[in-house]
Amino acid sequence: MADSQRTILVTGASRGIGAEVAVRLAGPGRRIVVNYREKARRADEIVERIQNAGGTAVAVQADLCDDSAVDAMLAGIGRLDALVLNASGGMERGADAGYAMRINRDAQASLARRVLEVMPAGGRIVFVTSHQAHFHDTKPVPAEYEAVAASKNAGERALKNMRALFERQGVELVVVSGDMIEGTFVVRLLDRSNPDAVAQRRAAGPLPTIEEFAKAIVDAVDAPGIDGRTVYIGGADYLGRA
Ligand SMILES: NC(=O)c1ccc[n+]([C@@H]2O[C@H](COP(=O)([O-])OP(=O)(O)OC[C@H]3O[C@@H](n4cnc5c(N)ncnc54)[C@H](OP(=O)(O)O)[C@@H]3O)[C@@H](O)[C@H]2O)c1
Repeated sequence: MADSQRTILVTGASRGIGAEVAVRLAGPGRRIVVNYREKARRADEIVERIQNAGGTAVAVQADLCDDSAVDAMLAGIGRLDALVLNASGGMERGADAGYAMRINRDAQASLARRVLEVMPAGGRIVFVTSHQAHFHDTKPVPAEYEAVAASKNAGERALKNMRALFERQGVELVVVSGDMIEGTFVVRLLDRSNPDAVAQRRAAGPLPTIEEFAKAIVDAVDAPGIDGRTVYIGGADYLGRA
């Protein structure tokens, strides 16, 4: 790998929004690390898509809740220029009561802390969240999503509390928050279990697409001068703009 190449790690990039972000981030002078938990075939397909378009990518398995797996992943990557904290969980069948906090708060903060050891000044961490999590303290959320929303909100706060640490190292933090995203697994799941909740969001305006949200996340990785900002996609009513 040439030294001038920028390496970008996207967590949970085997499907959905993370996969689209990985594909869009790829390009000349960039190496994309497609992290996944268990769906190796899907992650390999994303790597192939990137390679077929002339880009450089590698798939790396690591459950973000497993510190030794994360350490092994980071050791294999070497220098890291940007990190997209996209992976999220808590609605999986069989997940125990504490899992949402472990993946959405503890694992995010732990990875961000570990990454500082391999991220030079000028690096950037982008945290991906949902409006239902970001505005958790002020707006009600569907019962099915409550634990995820509370834990992602806690994860965002934990990362913001680390800003002094990031700043000392010259590392920037940007948050990207989206309304429910049309076409995602989570929204399809919610549409089946609680169609009213999704219909309510659609009534507030068309839901952003995976492509629109991914584009905003890619912009948050690349745009200069946005350290500390939260970028909002969709859900004008949340922002008092409707
Ligand atoms: N869906 C929405 O409507 C929506 C709206 C706003 C914001 N967002 C945010 O956008 C992000 C992506 O959402 P999504 O709907 O695309 O997610 P998703 O379809 O549920 O995909 C989750 C990804 O994370 C990986 N993952 C899950 N648990 C993991 C773990 N413990 N360690 C490592 N990887 C893990 C999965 O890998 P495997 O497939 O290998 O298990 C998969 O690649 C999340 O942060 C979410 O909060 C989503």
